[in-house]
Amino acid sequence: MEHIIKTENLSKVFRAPFTFKKINALTDLRLEITPGEVFGFLGPNGAGKTTTFKLLLGLLKPSRGKIWLWREELKKIELKSKIGFLPENPYFYNYLKAKEYLHFCRHLFALNSQESKKRVDALLDLVGLPEHKNRLIKTFSKGMLQRLGLAQALINDPELLILDEPMSGLDPLGRKEIRDLILDLKNKGKTIIFSTHILSDVETVCDRVGILIKGNLRDCGPLEHLLNPKIKSFELCIKGLSIETVHNLEEQGLNLIKRGNEIFIRVEEKEEKNLLYYLLEKGGELVSFAPRKETLEDLYVNEIKSIDNHHENLGFGN
Ligand SMILES: Nc1ncnc2c1ncn2[C@@H]1O[C@H](COP(=O)(O)OP(=O)(O)OP(=O)(O)O)[C@@H](O)[C@H]1O
Ligand SMILES: [Mg+2]
Repeated sequence: MEHIIKTENLSKVFRAPFTFKKINALTDLRLEITPGEVFGFLGPNGAGKTTTFKLLLGLLKPSRGKIWLWREELKKIELKSKIGFLPENPYFYNYLKAKEYLHFCRHLFALNSQESKKRVDALLDLVGLPEHKNRLIKTFSKGMLQRLGLAQALINDPELLILDEPMSGLDPLGRKEIRDLILDLKNKGKTIIFSTHILSDVETVCDRVGILIKGNLRDCGPLEHLLNPKIKSFELCIKGLSIETVHNLEEQGLNLIKRGNEIFIRVEEKEEKNLLYYLLEKGGELVSFAPRKETLEDLYVNEIKSIDNHHENLGFGN
């Protein structure tokens, strides 16, 4: 199959300062990203996401393994002209204005055409900074810097975008705008790989997801393949119960969440009918009753727990 990124046994070992202890930041990553796909990279802090991106960009040298971009080994510098990169902590020149900075980035790519000049303004509009074009970068807020970082990642109209936490620091509207922008770029045929800690962003925009934990890719695939389609539990919302009934439910070990005069109860599948009849018999008024399938959050949390348990069993626990 055609691929834009391919890695084989990609590994990176760092040495801790002073102690020189090995840090296995990434272990035997096998990844293939196909043209036009949006791939979401998830993983807790220190999982190896940024390390992977830096390896893909040639900013770090692999300890082991290989990388191909557009079927070529990474050594060719020309390949980089087709990539846009938003680093995790982009560095800006404080005493440049936003517009000046983008012109500077344009020149780094040796883009001198009239069209590329116009692109600077278009990009500032696209990322929602049209009124701040002529402001010094040092006066920008975190979210504004993030938007500017995204504009620089698009300056060369890249085929492949590597975005390290593009939604970080953005307000809810900003996050939605970036999600829409990613989808728009996908519609234009771009390939995008990004990392995030915001699971809902992955659910809305990604074709495939990879979960990286302690340098190992634990799950990888389309969400509909990774998540169990079976109904696991039900969530009931009920109001009008007496204090005794609520107390009774708590004594039975049910997990209740009280919000105003409503109570939310989650029960395992098969137990929902008995509970519902009981609650109605006790005078409760049903507000909602919803089946619950496995979510990305369930999968993510279970993966992390299973690794922690494994490590505890091996004697690495705290
Ligand atoms: N230059 C370095 N020297 C030593 N160790 C490093 C270096 N860079 C990263 N590491 C270690 O490699 C591991 C992976 O780090 P990485 O930055 O790739 O994680 P991440 O998944 O991007 O985390 P986050 O979600 O916090 O951004 C961590 O244990 C980190 O401490
Ligand atoms: Mg990171």
